[in-house]
Amino acid sequence: MELPYAEPYKIKVIEPLYRSSREEREQWIKEARYNLFNLKSEQVFIDLLTDSGTGAMSQYQWSEIMLGDESYAGSTSFFKLKNVITRLLDMPYFLPTHQGRAAENVLFSALIKEGDIVPGNSHFDTTKGHIEYRKARAIDCTIDEACNTAEFHPFKGNIDLGKLEEVFKKYPSDQIPLCIITVTCNTSGGQPVSMENIREVSALCKKYGVMPVFDAARFAENAYFIKIREKGYEDKTIREIVKEMFSYVDGATMSSKKDAIVNIGGFIALRDKSLFDKASVFNIMYEGYLTYGGLAGRDLGAMAQGLMEGTEFDYLEARIGQVAYLGEKLHQLGIPIQLPTGGHAVFVDARKFLPNVPKEEYQAQTLAIELYVEGGVRGVEIGTLLADRNPVTRENRYPQLELLRLAIPRRVYTNNHMDYIAAALKNIWDRRESINKGLKITTEAPIMRHFTVELERV
Ligand code: F0G
Repeated sequence: MELPYAEPYKIKVIEPLYRSSREEREQWIKEARYNLFNLKSEQVFIDLLTDSGTGAMSQYQWSEIMLGDESYAGSTSFFKLKNVITRLLDMPYFLPTHQGRAAENVLFSALIKEGDIVPGNSHFDTTKGHIEYRKARAIDCTIDEACNTAEFHPFKGNIDLGKLEEVFKKYPSDQIPLCIITVTCNTSGGQPVSMENIREVSALCKKYGVMPVFDAARFAENAYFIKIREKGYEDKTIREIVKEMFSYVDGATMSSKKDAIVNIGGFIALRDKSLFDKASVFNIMYEGYLTYGGLAGRDLGAMAQGLMEGTEFDYLEARIGQVAYLGEKLHQLGIPIQLPTGGHAVFVDARKFLPNVPKEEYQAQTLAIELYVEGGVRGVEIGTLLADRNPVTRENRYPQLELLRLAIPRRVYTNNHMDYIAAALKNIWDRRESINKGLKITTEAPIMRHFTVELERV
């Protein structure tokens, strides 16, 4: 008999979960004003809100916590991290920050001015927030295939070179301080960008004098997809692929809460000394001195170790394999999801799942609430609430995709949890015809409303 697949690790510490009743969950979600961010974590059975900072650290990472050097300047942990970043990414300069959006804040402070244009592939919401806050504009140049959830495309995170060149032709290069390649592309479904696309985008950027930069939160998962899907990379190691990926960009912002498998942390990596010097000033102002950047020494050490573990093939195979396992289950049940499944999450197509709920009543949020009440599973809306209002007209922006994201934390849940999630969704799927009312907003913030929005049932 052929031996089945099994994870290359075992569990040493467990965290008990409370199994609530449907009645309790109905009450709790009402008290939470139908915003899943307002729930207490103990009211959640399986938490798929995010894969960010929610992973399980290894024994080696916990050892780094004890080894952390808490010196204000020049800490050993900083140099440990610097070494790893130089080795893995081949980037000579780096600044630690407390998380990914902090890296955006620091780098964009040095780069972006009012009226600027920042093209990219479906910028993440904090990235877009930091661009729009500076009265600049993010232009999404993702390939159209990304918006057709049923169509199989191996690299749905790719940038459409035609769309990008149009932006480059329309605006002068001094108005385009950078082009952001998000690897993997979270918003379009954790979808990878091919090496070929990275190479071509980089060449186009260089032709027009624009700096290509990675939003590198899930760079290792992207490298895994290149290895298994792109011709010519099957025999390369993840780290060789990572090195080649970074050779095409001049900088990166990183949320280490993803592929560095830490609970907090981030960094900026740069090739250019003068930009590093400029960003350093903002880093000191917003984050902290250059050798800790808003983190404790122990966090830097755990990040260094996590970057090494996160770029191991066996780890990535287990991690992305679990996401694919859930995706495959849902697909078999006929539930519409973004295909193929991405690196960190399964994205359920809420527009197809709940066609009887009007789009003005937030289909993906409605599905997220249904799933919570059904099984205590907390996903997150990646749809109209997240897309926010047009900053000028204040009208709701209806995005092309209305998705419920089920983000899988790294090394945390077992496949029994995946089976449970699939069963909960199946129960909703079976009664989907009867769900024809959604939610309406009672209170919302002027920007990034999805975190604090309050809703009620229609
Ligand atoms: N870029 C991408 C692609 C992200 O997915 C995130 C965070 C950030 C930047 C910001 O990093 O959270 O460390 O400040 N994504 C999380 C998520 C929050 O749930 O997808 P951060």
